[in-house]
Amino acid sequence: MNIVDIHCHILPYVDDGASTLEEAMELLWMEADQGVTEICLTPHLRHKMFDSSDEKIAEKFAQLSAAAREQRLPIRLHLSREYYYDDHFRKKLSEGQLLPMGGDILLTEFSYSSDFQALRNAAMEELNAGFTPLFAHVERYRAFEEDPNCGKALMEMGVLMQVNADGVMGRNGRKTKLLCERLIKSGCIHVVASDTHDSINRVPGLKKCADYLEKEIGRASTHRLMYENPLAILNSLEEE
Ligand SMILES: [Fe+2]
Repeated sequence: MNIVDIHCHILPYVDDGASTLEEAMELLWMEADQGVTEICLTPHLRHKMFDSSDEKIAEKFAQLSAAAREQRLPIRLHLSREYYYDDHFRKKLSEGQLLPMGGDILLTEFSYSSDFQALRNAAMEELNAGFTPLFAHVERYRAFEEDPNCGKALMEMGVLMQVNADGVMGRNGRKTKLLCERLIKSGCIHVVASDTHDSINRVPGLKKCADYLEKEIGRASTHRLMYENPLAILNSLEEE
């Protein structure tokens, strides 16, 4: 099965992801071997923690793209960011200084302790600013653990939601695995992505996850979560 990965930290030198160009290429080849055909690189933007500018990531993206071309990597690369929701991000949102995925989609992460109200307010803010929220690894937030209707309510507002392959596979504990299963089966998850960071601890595990999900929810649903929906997100600019 072909796979599209729209959340990863493979771009080197810019956050807590790949630390060298060589490691980045190793990760890209691991993804290619698993059937990944398109990747969106999503370096963190989190004030006072991961502050690399859009100019710096564009420069690293050009370097990585050149290396990928040279090695004939069979993957199309895209560039966006994973935004941490805080006042710094809100300022950028109000000024429109963002690097969305596709036309207007913002991969956004939150503090683990976020409740439903906080997530709903953030979604409203992004929607009102003319963007489409794509909430990153929703299996990590308290709101989703506590409130079984949280996913459905956000989906009805127009929020897209992503879970990590590691969460689905139980690498973050049984409780998280069960939550991923419940969320996927309830139909509020649009995308499964790798959120890969490095070649040792947080390696790309999309093929194993696709094989597992095929048995759990069938091939068509797995294909939607791991190929059709993420591809539609990347192509959303052209579809408008
Ligand atoms: Fe991430």
